[in-house]
Amino acid sequence: MLSNKTIVLGVTGGIAAYKAAELASQLTQAGAAVSVIMTREAVQFVSPVTFRALTGRPVVTEMFDLASEFSIEHVSLARAADVVVVAPATANIIAKLAAGMADDMLCCTVLATKAPVVIAPAMETNMYENQVTQDNLSELKSRDFVVIGPAAGWLASGREGLGRLADVSDILGSIRRVLGRDGDLAGKHIVVTAGGTREPVDPVRYISNRSSGKMGYALAEAARDRGAKVSLITAPVCLNAPVGAEVIRVGTALEMRQAVENLAPRTDALVMAAAVADYRPRSAAGQKIKKGDAPLTLELEGIPDILGTVKGEFVKVGFAAESSNVIENATDKLKQKGLDLIVANDITASDSGFGTDTNQVTIIDKDGGVDSLPLLTKHEVAERILDRVAQLLAARES
Ligand code: PMT
Repeated sequence: MLSNKTIVLGVTGGIAAYKAAELASQLTQAGAAVSVIMTREAVQFVSPVTFRALTGRPVVTEMFDLASEFSIEHVSLARAADVVVVAPATANIIAKLAAGMADDMLCCTVLATKAPVVIAPAMETNMYENQVTQDNLSELKSRDFVVIGPAAGWLASGREGLGRLADVSDILGSIRRVLGRDGDLAGKHIVVTAGGTREPVDPVRYISNRSSGKMGYALAEAARDRGAKVSLITAPVCLNAPVGAEVIRVGTALEMRQAVENLAPRTDALVMAAAVADYRPRSAAGQKIKKGDAPLTLELEGIPDILGTVKGEFVKVGFAAESSNVIENATDKLKQKGLDLIVANDITASDSGFGTDTNQVTIIDKDGGVDSLPLLTKHEVAERILDRVAQLLAARES
């Protein structure tokens, strides 16, 4: 979604300016044309040459630089921008933008642009928490600026606190979300489940599976990038929460079921990529089970099927993790669970299924349509599934 987008990246004078180089690089790698504007103070921290090399484009440092491609009409970047990002944003630039000042190229560009503006504050904790900075940020938010961060952690002063620049991945997520806000899922509430549920055996052990959550998180990010309101119900995984999604953390299948049911009245589409347990220990031991010589028998009981029992008129999409008769078994599940679509996953393929970054799936619909996709990244698979979800939602409205 970033390819062929024009992104104006404003870099201001804080120690986190060096992290803007990584942001510029990742945006450029994703296909965006990145034009960097540096304030006078930013140049003290990072050389414009760095950004020039990373973006392959001129870097603006002066309002009246006659050599610059943009200097004659100082609002030309403002017009070209699909989004303006200020990262890091110091207390000073936040105050200037809130006041509507126009005394440097970055202020002029933000003032003149009609594009959305994303601000990533980074400063000392006391400066950030100062009421005047908070008031300035509130003012910017009231004008539809998107503020991402700051994060908490180690600061240049040697102290720990709030004020670190948000992670580059989170800033990228914010940019994608802003660019996609009028997408084909705008106004829709998409609920995604991800990860493998954990069924306790005793206080230290559980029964689970090898789901990494990658497929579900890719779906959540892709739905967000198409303008949806996203609720991600996630079992424990080692992935960063997608910026802008409501994240509901659960452990067991029954907790996941409760979370799905709570959201059902507000759901437009439910996509269940989670690997949910079918059985759980009948009773979890209250104390750690001691090692002994005798074999240990665990009695398991069935867990109600979430997809098959949740009530609501929303679009229902399931996944089927299969190791044999993939299409037949998936089709049976689609019918048993009353789904609109099922995504059949052959989990015996080495580059597909659990834990991989790629997936090879077949999308089966309730009318018998079978669409076998080639091996794709999980993000690409997510887009293809959401294409179908968007069609189903549009058909319901027409
Ligand atoms: O997380 P990754 O590492 O990226 O791996 C992705 C994946 C392989 C987990 C994913 O692509 C996938 O196939 N998810 C579904 C796994 C699964 O539980 O399949 P199933 O055939 O057992 O279940 C069928 C459907 O019913 C699934 O949508 C499941 O979420 C749902 N289900 C299952 C059990 C249950 N008690 N309630 C349910 O709703």
